[in-house]
Amino acid sequence: MKTVSITIDGNEITAREGEKLLWVALDNGIYIPNLCALRENPEVFAGCRLCFVEVEGNNRPVAACTVPVTEGMVVSTRGEKALRLARSGFELLMSSHPVDCAHCTRSGSCELQKIAKHLGAKLKTKRLRNLQRHLPIDDSHPLFIYNPNKCALCGRCVWICRQHPGAGVFGFAHRGFERVISTFCEEPMGAYKCENCTECISVCPTGALVFKNGEEQSA
Ligand code: FES
Repeated sequence: MKTVSITIDGNEITAREGEKLLWVALDNGIYIPNLCALRENPEVFAGCRLCFVEVEGNNRPVAACTVPVTEGMVVSTRGEKALRLARSGFELLMSSHPVDCAHCTRSGSCELQKIAKHLGAKLKTKRLRNLQRHLPIDDSHPLFIYNPNKCALCGRCVWICRQHPGAGVFGFAHRGFERVISTFCEEPMGAYKCENCTECISVCPTGALVFKNGEEQSA
């Protein structure tokens, strides 16, 4: 496979031509906030709008998960325009997220905490109205608990679940502020056919899907 040379934040990097910029940066130890991308998923969802970077020659920041690397590309992950967009997206997300890290099993491995630190942003936003939802928590499954109030709607669980023939437990339901990830007909998780592979838990970046026994997930 052809390789290309690119520069990210002044670091010269060799990458496979066409590989998405997000993965090239992460593989080379350069963090870019991201929630919805999954390396195994070839269809880019680009729903979280947190992975903005600036690419020389482009007037506007671009989502790193959507951009294939090309020879000579010069990228900045710390440009002011990109950071401003990412911070706004993060604040919007956090305006409806319950911040109860002290009682959350994902605290310490939560992607939201990592993103906040990277962006220099607060988990509790003061600039936007607090729009927390109070949806029922589903603990009907024998292995895991689903708390839709902590869901960032990244869609990772939806995609990974669909990779199992006959599974596809998760899907998006409703629109706008009412949008949730749910089962078909919004049945309780425990009542739905599930292979218990628990891959949904390993890809969840927040505390929305957690093991009942407190086991750590790997995302
Ligand atoms: S990771 Fe790029 S838009 Fe979500």
